[in-house]
Amino acid sequence: MKTTLIFTLLLTLHVNMLKAQQCPIVPKPVEYTANPGYFYFKPTSYILVNDMASFMDAVTFRDMSIKFHSLPLKTVREEIYPSHYIEVSYDSTLMIPDGGYTMLITEEKITIIGKNKGGVFYGLMSLLQMTESKFTNQFQVPCAGISDFPQFQYRGMHLDCSRHFFTVDEVKMYIDYLALYKMNTFHWHLTDDQGWRIEIKQYPKLTSVGAYRTGTMKGHYRDQQYDTINYGGYYTQKEISEVVKYAKNRNITIIPEIEMPGHCAAALAAYPELGCIADTTYSVGQAWGVYKEAFCPKPETFEFLYRVLDEVMALFPSQYIHIGGDEVEKDQWMHCDYCQQLIKEKNLVDEHGLQGYFTKTIAEYVQSKGRNIIGWDEILTNDLPQQAAIMSWRGVNGGIDAARAGHYAVMTPGSHCYFDYYQGLPYQEPLAIGGYIPLQKVYEYHPIPDALTPEESKYILGAQGNLWTEYIPNFDQVEYMVIPRMLALSEVLWTPDTARNYADFMRRLSTQFELLGRVDCHYSKSAFGIIPEVLPTDDFNGVRIALRTWDNTTGFEYQYEDTSKNSPAVFGGAFSKGIYTAPFIVNESYSLIIPEDYKHPEVKLRLLFNKATGKKITLKTPPAQQYSGSGAFSLVDGINASLYPSWSGNEWLGFSGTNLNCTIDLGAVDTIMAVSAGFLEDKTSWIYLPSSMEISVSLDGKKFTRIGIVPVVKDDRAITNGIYKFDPTAARYVRIIANNIGTIPQGNPGAGNKAWLFVDEVHIR
Ligand code: ACM
Ligand code: ZN
Repeated sequence: MKTTLIFTLLLTLHVNMLKAQQCPIVPKPVEYTANPGYFYFKPTSYILVNDMASFMDAVTFRDMSIKFHSLPLKTVREEIYPSHYIEVSYDSTLMIPDGGYTMLITEEKITIIGKNKGGVFYGLMSLLQMTESKFTNQFQVPCAGISDFPQFQYRGMHLDCSRHFFTVDEVKMYIDYLALYKMNTFHWHLTDDQGWRIEIKQYPKLTSVGAYRTGTMKGHYRDQQYDTINYGGYYTQKEISEVVKYAKNRNITIIPEIEMPGHCAAALAAYPELGCIADTTYSVGQAWGVYKEAFCPKPETFEFLYRVLDEVMALFPSQYIHIGGDEVEKDQWMHCDYCQQLIKEKNLVDEHGLQGYFTKTIAEYVQSKGRNIIGWDEILTNDLPQQAAIMSWRGVNGGIDAARAGHYAVMTPGSHCYFDYYQGLPYQEPLAIGGYIPLQKVYEYHPIPDALTPEESKYILGAQGNLWTEYIPNFDQVEYMVIPRMLALSEVLWTPDTARNYADFMRRLSTQFELLGRVDCHYSKSAFGIIPEVLPTDDFNGVRIALRTWDNTTGFEYQYEDTSKNSPAVFGGAFSKGIYTAPFIVNESYSLIIPEDYKHPEVKLRLLFNKATGKKITLKTPPAQQYSGSGAFSLVDGINASLYPSWSGNEWLGFSGTNLNCTIDLGAVDTIMAVSAGFLEDKTSWIYLPSSMEISVSLDGKKFTRIGIVPVVKDDRAITNGIYKFDPTAARYVRIIANNIGTIPQGNPGAGNKAWLFVDEVHIR
């Protein structure tokens, strides 16, 4: 008994020692060797600097140590006490790639040597993360040796300050978070339809008029509700300079974005003469979605944009200036005599050619000032100047095409990098635009598209997370949406692929949450929640339910509806308790609840069975990678996609420009009389109902007979059911083809692009 106790004690001690020695840093360093012992900060501890560059890094570290740890340190040029200090210096001969550093932590001293470009700063950020404080005013760092450098040279985060405005202090805090996780580029989205946020001295109305709107959409776009509150704000040039300097001290370059030729309603509200339509009033946007407003490419517009860019370039020293270029509606250009004349005069093919001309003109101006433009992937055309760079957002093809054409590219695809999308089950999350990008999905991202050769891959500079803020009204929610997904992206960009491991990342994340808690960061714990998964069974009878956590925890309690006491699947009836040990099978409609506790929010699962539920289903054409749910089985898993609080990418299969063509094997011949499928329409997200739905049946799976084709017409429900009822018919196989409308019609957001078809849950009766 006594020996066991001692043994247990020893084991606990040993485990604690091991725990202390595990690397806590995000992004994970290239090499980390844990050594026994601790460096303890003393009241006399100081930072010894050996050169100007490391002095700047040390001063910033001193500020951040106070902010994150309430740990005061001073910086000195000469040793004052012989031990318990931090020594920092740059050494360009260090044998390590650019941006790298080495750090040695012993009980006496911490030594950081940076190669170049912020190497010392990165070492200090690692140190900030390693600093532990178990008792008030006692700080310690576990002894270790580190050798570290980044894999990608562009590690970016974007913030939309137009849809919602964030104060200078909030923007600085955002920059602190970027710095802490070794991101090096802040893409500042300063202008859009809903507000112009940067003071331009030559055009004061841009802010006096363009920075304010008299109302804002509330709730989800779908609901079309508005408030009537005056909303706005902007950054003065003095404030911008202060933020640029603040970022520079944190080794972060700010790339400002001035949107053109679309997303300019706020600018046109201030200077309507720059639009295509005479005698009209434009107003600062109140709704989310894409606007028809575009700058008219006449001489006075270019003159205006040159002068704006002059002031922007004077404020921001970045090599790249972002000129937007996404989602340009061509309607106004189509109906403008000046634009049509210009298309003829310049021998352009059409309005897309006119955007190419617009971009080229601006690119040449920016290049004449020694800078380059970067823009969203729509700007990629054959006459784009070689030095212009691309941000690939509509998937990865923009990046692939850019690299092949010799343009540098930053990857920011909607499949992995849109942090305004849901990160957990939508009913557990604050209202978001839609989509579904959980933490692990970000972590599994590889910025280099498989399609590229090693030579072409050199043009992929890195990746960026985007935060569009239509549904993000305050900074607490900015933190929630970005953290921890930004930490996953930082590891994707910094740490070698071979050293990345999600379970290890999740372990380190817990340490990071302690640090972030010290600055009251409203990070999201969604990735630690329980996700119910519904899977096929081996014989396609019933469905298999798995309750997943990131580390496959079992033993927790859940409640399920007792169908012996209730009619099936009616929430609110009598519930029985179960303890989850392993995936289990259900054969009829079923409801399950896992009550909220301190680790996770409430989980709800509701399955409604029909003849198709759990059956084998095959798809002729796969859905798009980012909207592939749990594969074809999503359509027969018993879960009906919901629109509450808005549509979420995990519940739908999305087809970009292609049709749904699925075949369900009922397992045996049965008599059926109705087939239906649910479709989503959300034109602002380019999602359209199919034009028609065709039903065929077969007894043998080879010879199919088409029994009907019906149009799919929007009804008054949020999800439109395509439904076909027919005389009782014998069938084992049922094929549904839903025809995508193909191309988005003129006059709609994204006109000319491929339309999305979104489908969930097939019902067969
Ligand atoms: C974008 O998301 N419109 C670039
Ligand atoms: Zn025009």
